[in-house]
Amino acid sequence: MSKVLLVGCGHMGSALIMSWLNLKYYSFTIVDPYNFNKLKNKLKRKKIDILNKAPTQKQMKTFDIIIFAVKPQIATDVLNDYENFELKKNIVIGSIIAGKKINFFKKRIKNANQFVRIMPNMPALVRNGISCFVSNSSLTINNKKKLNELFLNVGKTIWLKNESQIDKATAVSGSGPGYIFTLIHAFEKAAEKLGFSKNQSQDLIISTMLGSIYLMQETKKKPEELAIQIAVKGGTTEAGIKNLKNNNIDKIIYKTFMAAYNRAKILSKKN
Ligand SMILES: NC(=O)c1ccc[n+]([C@@H]2O[C@H](COP(=O)([O-])OP(=O)(O)OC[C@H]3O[C@@H](n4cnc5c(N)ncnc54)[C@H](OP(=O)(O)O)[C@@H]3O)[C@@H](O)[C@H]2O)c1
Repeated sequence: MSKVLLVGCGHMGSALIMSWLNLKYYSFTIVDPYNFNKLKNKLKRKKIDILNKAPTQKQMKTFDIIIFAVKPQIATDVLNDYENFELKKNIVIGSIIAGKKINFFKKRIKNANQFVRIMPNMPALVRNGISCFVSNSSLTINNKKKLNELFLNVGKTIWLKNESQIDKATAVSGSGPGYIFTLIHAFEKAAEKLGFSKNQSQDLIISTMLGSIYLMQETKKKPEELAIQIAVKGGTTEAGIKNLKNNNIDKIIYKTFMAAYNRAKILSKKN
């Protein structure tokens, strides 16, 4: 049985914990001083310990995995409470906190030597996320397996080679759902401008988006291949795609990723 401590149980923390509760070989403890009562209520029938402050030394010595899931702005304060504990020899310290580097944790939690940064994304809430990982070289195969197993419960997992890649993943998949929702909204607003009602626009766009993704997955064809297949010469799709290309859609998307990546680098430097 592996004992997991989750520090911070807001949007992402609770998405993770809800999917982990049925795992056989793990037990969970949550620390969240501000949502203590809400969590107690929500999880009252589950076998889970909920604390309203950092665990005691005696409790700390029992954990195999700690995952920090608080907002970056309060990470330094929160970590203050975890600095001087004696820990299990093989403990792994994980963090989903955007922009906080492995070194940030290494400097503070001196009695651990295995550290992992994890970048999940919001569809983890419906177990369709993708989580990117990067670790320091001390991570054992056994702990890697355990972390991978935990996050496979909320979607796919990808292990990256270095921390700059995780900042890039933050810009692509971490922030990605935000771009997709913005695009969906733009599609819906455009359909409304053409004269469809709000509901009709939502139906037209969501069905078109979902259907296109399913089509791509089932046929295993590349998106550019499918686009050519639909865009008959001289037809309507070709006219629409031409407009996207004339307005440099590729450049807009690349610049979007770069803006987020640059921001992630700035946030990382603040450690
Ligand atoms: N949401 C996403 O899509 C996403 C994706 C990838 C990574 N992340 C990262 O995940 C982290 C958490 O994001 P989130 O959206 O889940 O934020 P959130 O909803 O604000 O969750 C953080 C939780 O930690 C609690 N907290 C505050 N002080 C604490 C303490 N001393 N000890 C334990 N818990 C404490 C907060 O309580 P209060 O709210 O009452 O302060 C809140 O419940 C962030 O660093 C973010 O970068 C989020």
